[in-house]
Amino acid sequence: MSTSPARAAPRLKGELPGGLRLKLRSVERYLARALPRETLSPGRLHAAMRYGVLSPGKRVRPLLVLTACEAVGGRWLDALPAAVAVECVHAFSLIHDDLPAMDDDDYRRGRLATHRKFGEPLGILAGDALLALAFEQLARLAERGVPADRVVEAVRALARAAGSRALVGGQALDLEAEGRGVSREEVRTIHYLKTGHLMGAALALGGIVGGADEVTRALLLSLGLDLGLAFQIHDDLLNQRSSASRLGKPTGTDAARGKATYPRAVGEERARRELERIFRRALEQAREIGPRPANLERLIRAVAERRR
Ligand code: IPE
Ligand code: IPE
Ligand code: MG
Ligand code: MG
Repeated sequence: MSTSPARAAPRLKGELPGGLRLKLRSVERYLARALPRETLSPGRLHAAMRYGVLSPGKRVRPLLVLTACEAVGGRWLDALPAAVAVECVHAFSLIHDDLPAMDDDDYRRGRLATHRKFGEPLGILAGDALLALAFEQLARLAERGVPADRVVEAVRALARAAGSRALVGGQALDLEAEGRGVSREEVRTIHYLKTGHLMGAALALGGIVGGADEVTRALLLSLGLDLGLAFQIHDDLLNQRSSASRLGKPTGTDAARGKATYPRAVGEERARRELERIFRRALEQAREIGPRPANLERLIRAVAERRR
């Protein structure tokens, strides 16, 4: 579907409190280093991967990894490979989400979508390679001294969140629901799957690296699921009400395609009310994660207040 060009990039940066900016800088630096250089063959493929990942995203998920690790008393620097792994899975999902066979969007993060810049075959392959790179990065947790049992647990959590019973499954249901009526329960299921599970895994990974016990890890996963549901409802509302120049991606497209969105299922007003309630509950849950949840709380607040 052809859409108007977008100018703004969806940075959260200006809206982030001080304690999170250093983490954001570290994520950007580590991402740039983790991705194969364009000088390495196949150069066009590596260029497409770098373009898809290093374009100005908000980096919400890697920040969730790092702040969760800090919240449970771990060293957030140790969690950087996990943060980068989660962003690689996210970038893979966005590149594929924009393909003509999926949402068919031309713009992402204020730029041409990866497949529009590099062609459809390289868009597909860049996504494939990013999913593989994510697990290569995750395995590198071991080089930071993270014990082997935690690395295995991290691999399991991310694999589960990326697959057919979570992100990819949610994308399949999202496409299948296009153009027909959907109930609130159906949309919730799709949103939990396509968006909630990766956020849940992001928080759980932070907990795993930081040495959290099983109860805390389960709490982090459930918090992330809710956060993802809220994030996707927010995305649905922005698609309906915001502009391409603010979001860096097309708007009005969900309605045009008859997408399974929360406002479509329950109406805009109720969607807003529920969104607020879920964010409030998420903040309460975050406060229970100790001993240092302050930055996690700040991040959730910034995400709740985002306008792009
Ligand atoms: C977009 O995610 C896709 C959704 C799950 C709604 P983000 O809004 O986090 O996208 P970037 O990474 O900032 O571009
Ligand atoms: C994106 O959902 C979810 C994933 C990529 C897994 P949308 O299709 O609603 O997100 P945008 O609006 O294109 O970013
Ligand atoms: Mg989609
Ligand atoms: Mg989309």
